[in-house]
Amino acid sequence: MSWALSLHSPGEPPALVEWAPPASGPDEVLVEVTAAPITPLDLLCASGTSYFGVPATPYVPGVQGVGTVGGRPVWFPTSAGMRPGDGSMASVVAVPEAELVPLPDDADPVLVAALGLSAVAAHMALTWRGELAHGEQVIVLGAGGVVGQAAVRLAKAAGARRVVAAARSAAGRARAVAAGADAVVALDTSDVDELATRFTAAVDGPADLVLDPVFGVPAAAAARVLRAGGRLVNLGAMAGETSPITSSLLRGKSLRLLGYTNNELTRAQRAAAITMVAARVADGTLRVGHDTVPPADAPGAWARCVRGRRRSQNSGGAVGSAHCLAPRARDGLRGTDQQHRGDHGQDEAEDVQLPDVASAQQCRDRAADDRADQSQQQRGDDAEVLLAGLDQARERADDEAGDDEADHV
Ligand SMILES: NC(=O)c1ccc[n+]([C@@H]2O[C@H](COP(=O)([O-])OP(=O)(O)OC[C@H]3O[C@@H](n4cnc5c(N)ncnc54)[C@H](OP(=O)(O)O)[C@@H]3O)[C@@H](O)[C@H]2O)c1
Repeated sequence: MSWALSLHSPGEPPALVEWAPPASGPDEVLVEVTAAPITPLDLLCASGTSYFGVPATPYVPGVQGVGTVGGRPVWFPTSAGMRPGDGSMASVVAVPEAELVPLPDDADPVLVAALGLSAVAAHMALTWRGELAHGEQVIVLGAGGVVGQAAVRLAKAAGARRVVAAARSAAGRARAVAAGADAVVALDTSDVDELATRFTAAVDGPADLVLDPVFGVPAAAAARVLRAGGRLVNLGAMAGETSPITSSLLRGKSLRLLGYTNNELTRAQRAAAITMVAARVADGTLRVGHDTVPPADAPGAWARCVRGRRRSQNSGGAVGSAHCLAPRARDGLRGTDQQHRGDHGQDEAEDVQLPDVASAQQCRDRAADDRADQSQQQRGDDAEVLLAGLDQARERADDEAGDDEADHV
């Protein structure tokens, strides 16, 4: 059966529908989709509140994916949600041939999909916009997210002398450490002076570069520990659309405050960056925790992502909501939590004979949601304790399951 996720109303999750495979246009090829991530950009476009405007509906979301053409693995972009047309969350997608990026056989296609343009952004913001040089000291904000985890790994791989990672949640900070961060800072206060004190304690002398997907108070605090002429590259606004960075700081240190967007990349730049990401996946340098769900469960995964994002926006960076966005705690492993395994095991997926949709599940842990609902008693406790318990359960499940391919169906 051919399938697609079809979004009918902005702000509502897409629905799984039977779908006639598209016909390819003159310069297009048909890609059989292996995995398509749910990313912040997908959610933003589908909300109807993005700067691209309200999308024409119905449409198939998904701004990127991994699939095969003639049996060969490829990565592909789409402009779904940004311009009229369908995206990657379908069994077959028509893509301009010139947009395809060949992937090596030894790169896990689901992991490449989970990292995709998030890792491209981390790489290009560090190296191209941020001009990271060997031996420099880097601060990575939002380091528990997909962009942040990739940035920590890529900065280390590029020869950064020291990487200081900052994240709201303890789980996010644990992921940053697993990614190789040398020190971590908790972003659990909106007091810019307090945060700046923490950054000062964590850095080894003035920092050279801040990689910033969050903006807001964390960016203002991190900017204070930059050296004269230091750079801050902003690529997102998870903590706020505005930031209390002062004019005297900017002038006093001649700081460089830079913006970055993937949309600025040429096709060749983007292809080169994806090729690098795939090579780093293949050699084990790049990993990120992610859940993998079959298409039948993708609407639910989508809704959890939206809930996590909404909580984030409402939180204003306050303590207490971070656990709602906690990514998977086990970096580098496929979707292996017990709950997930129980709900979406191989048999069930074989019944519907559909490939997986990979959900880069940084913010919406299915197990956390489901188990929190089941356990009112535990829910009353500290959220981080609840997550820690789940992490242990996942570890046990992972240990028991090893590399069980049931995760991927
Ligand atoms: N410019 C570009 O081309 C480009 C490309 C890709 C992504 N982005 C943007 O970069 C941002 C991050 O993307 P992502 O893929 O890494 O998202 P993600 O995986 O969902 O991670 C978001 C991270 O933001 C943190 N966060 C959320 N609200 C926060 C707050 N109020 N204060 C501090 N931290 C907060 C969370 O920290 P905890 O885990 O600690 O809760 C989480 O780790 C998004 O805004 C995305 O749109 C931009």
